[in-house]
This record gives sequence, C-alpha cells and structure tokens, in this order.
Amino acid sequence: MSNIKDKVVIITGASSGIGEATARLLAQKGAKVVLGARREDRLAKLVEAIKANGGDAVSRVTDVVNPEDSKQLVQLAKDSFGGVDVIFLNAGLMPSSPLSALKTDEWNQMIDVNIKGVLNGIAAVLPVFTAQKSGHIITTSSVAGLKAYPNGAVYGATKWAVRDLMEVLRMESALEGTNIRTATIYPAAINTELLHTITDKNAAQGMTELYRKYGIAPDRIANVVTFAIEQPEDTNVNEFTIGPTSQPW
Ligand SMILES: NC(=O)c1ccc[n+]([C@@H]2O[C@H](COP(=O)([O-])OP(=O)(O)OC[C@H]3O[C@@H](n4cnc5c(N)ncnc54)[C@H](OP(=O)(O)O)[C@@H]3O)[C@@H](O)[C@H]2O)c1
Repeated sequence: MSNIKDKVVIITGASSGIGEATARLLAQKGAKVVLGARREDRLAKLVEAIKANGGDAVSRVTDVVNPEDSKQLVQLAKDSFGGVDVIFLNAGLMPSSPLSALKTDEWNQMIDVNIKGVLNGIAAVLPVFTAQKSGHIITTSSVAGLKAYPNGAVYGATKWAVRDLMEVLRMESALEGTNIRTATIYPAAINTELLHTITDKNAAQGMTELYRKYGIAPDRIANVVTFAIEQPEDTNVNEFTIGPTSQPW
C-alpha cells in the first residue's frame, strides 16, 4: 500500500460536501491538504478545524473557471509543502432543469465549472506530474456521466465529458511513461449542498425527494478517494460507481 501520510493533496470544491469530507479524512490520515473553492469563510473554518485536529492544511480562494486560479493553487501547494502528489478535481454544480426551460446561463455555468474547471486543473498540474514522473489525478464525475435522465441533459453531458477526459488521460500517461494515476468517481445520491443551485421548481422538488429518500453521507466518497490513493504506486484503480444501497438507479 502506498502511504497517505505526508502526501500533498490539492482538493477543489473543498468548502462543502464531498470535497470537505475528503479534506477532513485525508488530513486525519496525515496528508497535507491544499484546499480551493470560492467561499473564503468556509475554507478558513475548515483549515482551522483540520489544524485543531493536528492536521496540515492551507487554502486559497479559487474559481476553477479561471485558469490562473488553478495555477495559483498548485503554486500554493509547492510553496507550502514543497510539491504536489495528488489533485482531486471535485468542484462542480448541478442546476438541473428540462432543456425546454432554456436556462442557457445555467448550461454555460455547468460547462464552465464542470468541464473547463477540470481541464484548468489538469493543465495546472500536468507539467508538475510529467516532470516528476508521478502523480494522481482524481475527479468527481457522477452516475449522470454513466446514464441519462430527464432534467439532467447538460449536467450529464458535462460529467460524460469528464469520463472521456480521464480515460484518455490515463491512456496517454501510460503511453508516455509519465506514471500518472487516474481515478474517476461516479457518485449517486450523496447528501451535500449540491441541490442548492437548482432553480427549476419541479426539478428541485423531484431531486429533494430523491435525496431525502436515498441520500448517504459524503464521507462515503472520501473513503473511496482514500482507497484509490492508498493503492501501490503501480496500481491504478480507474473507476468507482458508488451510491446508496437502496437507490435503484
Ligand atoms: N452530491 C451528489 O449526489 C453528487 C453526485 C454525483 C456527483 N457529484 C459531484 O460531486 C462534486 C462535489 O459536489 P457536492 O455534492 O459535494 O456538492 P456541494 O456541497 O455543493 O460542493 C460543491 C463544491 O464545488 C465548489 N464550487 C462550485 N463552483 C466552483 C467554482 N467555480 N470554483 C471553485 N469551486 C467551486 C463549491 O464551493 P464554492 O461555492 O465555495 O466555490 C463546493 O465546495 C461535484 O462535482 C458534483 O457534481 C455529487
């Protein structure tokens, strides 16, 4: 098993939900975590809590849509902890709606954050990983990246895109001999703040009912991220679909 202790792990979307739970667990296991999101107060509180628990954490206000912000987050990892071992590109949002509602601003926002945000993170870290011939890139796709459902067209399309990017990244780094590991996570209903951006009334109601009925806690995803990192360096656990046992899809 490779050791989590002292690994430097960057996490985007660390201010709540899956990112926050993962930051707490990895820091508890001795990783040095570098946290990015837009809400400064939430990041500051999380850093404080991790440090109070004996862990190592730093944060920077980061909008993943801005390529420079992603570069600065990588720089913060280098300046604070001397390098980067893992990046968890997890920031995302899900303002679900039917296509006929024409919420085109929300479509563009999802494309910007869920696809371009991931690409910006990859672009920021890949030169470091290529030069050191090691590194681990982990992303949060979604079950929406594996199967289609009404109200989820654009969200699903963004998560489908992440799946493709990650699979090609895995293949290319193997071909190029850069030794970069990849893991893509496909969560189902996880109780976080994800539903807060839904503005379509019917979609919000349907999703709220679904999450109330089935949703499980975000630490379950943190466990999976930890498992992926803990594997021996020559072992790439590429994909995980994870959700409530009781959820039929
Ligand atoms: N919860 C689920 O059921 C579920 C299922 C499948 C996939 N996912 C995926 O899991 C990931 C994490 O979501 P979550 O469920 O933990 O929801 P969440 O609690 O709403 O967390 C989303 C995180 O993304 C950050 N974020 C949003 N836009 C950002 C931007 N432009 N720049 C930087 N950070 C940004 C948010 O922080 P700020 O607002 O502070 O920037 C927040 O930390 C997302 O990619 C989501 O699509 C979730």
